Amino acid sequence: MLADRTTLVQFLIEERRRHPGSSGDLNGLILDVALACKAIANRVAAGALGGVLGSAEQTNVQGEVQQKLDLLANDYFLRSTEWGGHVAGMVSEELDEPYLPPAEYPRGKYLLLFDPLDGSSNIDVNVSVGSIFSILRAPQPGADADPGDYLQPGSQQVCAGYAIYGPSTMLVLSVGTGVHAFTLDPNLGEFFLTRQSIQIPSTTKEFAINASNQRFWEPAVQRYVEECLKGRSGPRHKDYNMRWVASLVAETHRILTRGGVFLYPRDSRDPAKPGKLRLLYEVNPVAYLIEQAGGAASTGRQRVLDVVPSNVHQRISFVFGAREEVERIEDYHSQTYEETSSLPLYGTRGLFRTTPVG
Ligand code: F6P
Ligand code: MN
Repeated sequence: MLADRTTLVQFLIEERRRHPGSSGDLNGLILDVALACKAIANRVAAGALGGVLGSAEQTNVQGEVQQKLDLLANDYFLRSTEWGGHVAGMVSEELDEPYLPPAEYPRGKYLLLFDPLDGSSNIDVNVSVGSIFSILRAPQPGADADPGDYLQPGSQQVCAGYAIYGPSTMLVLSVGTGVHAFTLDPNLGEFFLTRQSIQIPSTTKEFAINASNQRFWEPAVQRYVEECLKGRSGPRHKDYNMRWVASLVAETHRILTRGGVFLYPRDSRDPAKPGKLRLLYEVNPVAYLIEQAGGAASTGRQRVLDVVPSNVHQRISFVFGAREEVERIEDYHSQTYEETSSLPLYGTRGLFRTTPVG
């Protein structure tokens, strides 16, 4: 086993050797994150026996009910990464404000942004959940991070990844040299490289969208899905399959494994929420992985990684996966819908229209 497999540590050290001047801080931080993920994997796997299922009976800054495991996972991330001197600050989905390590620990060169337990509504039903993380350079290395320091476009990420807690626990990451997947050997407590340089096929016959929101979608998305549903006899000339796990990590992992396209588009449900998924710790890291795997990641109107964030908990529309499908969806957005400044407007004027609105 050990002889013919590469461990995560070995992989990271070999990557680092390509950059002779590097300090090892990034590797240190990634390994601290991996430790948090192993701890979370254990608690998730224990299920009801661990006494951590169910709601924590409080809400996060997004107004979502926090599960006990959300809070536990957040704590594992903070405790495993705050002491090492690698980070100047952190942002978590579960914390209203950015987090500074306790004063006794040195400030580092990196910012860590994470969703400690994504898809947590799936925990109680024993469906795959995951952790997502993004690493940026701290603009002021060695000093406390300012809230504005996190508002960097996703193209600036130096590492992004996720852990998936499914039938097996895997860590999938990129440090800008392709996407590589590691599987946890629970007996050794070590991640081993099991898939290297993952590539997403540029076309697909599988799409993922929460169709219960259909009445709120924009015309471009209506058109795309309608054409897929028409199958072989429609304009796409092929039958499509559909999936919706309601766990971004699980959907990303499926797409990195067998291809596909995912949409969580902007919709007219709530004008205060232009999209559901969070830019800094859900959308950007997934977009980085998808581009590194040869796929595309878009808001429907522009490349995700070019978006300059305005708020650490900002939400945004997200379309990613097979490059040709994403380009088609972008094309439909540019053909069928002109920018309007207010979402309710298109709700009454534009929905179901296939010609440009006034
Ligand atoms: O964190 C948000 C999230 O749980 C994602 O993991 C998932 O893709 C999405 O929300 C599911 O949304 P919905 O509840 O609309 O199906
Ligand atoms: Mn999430």
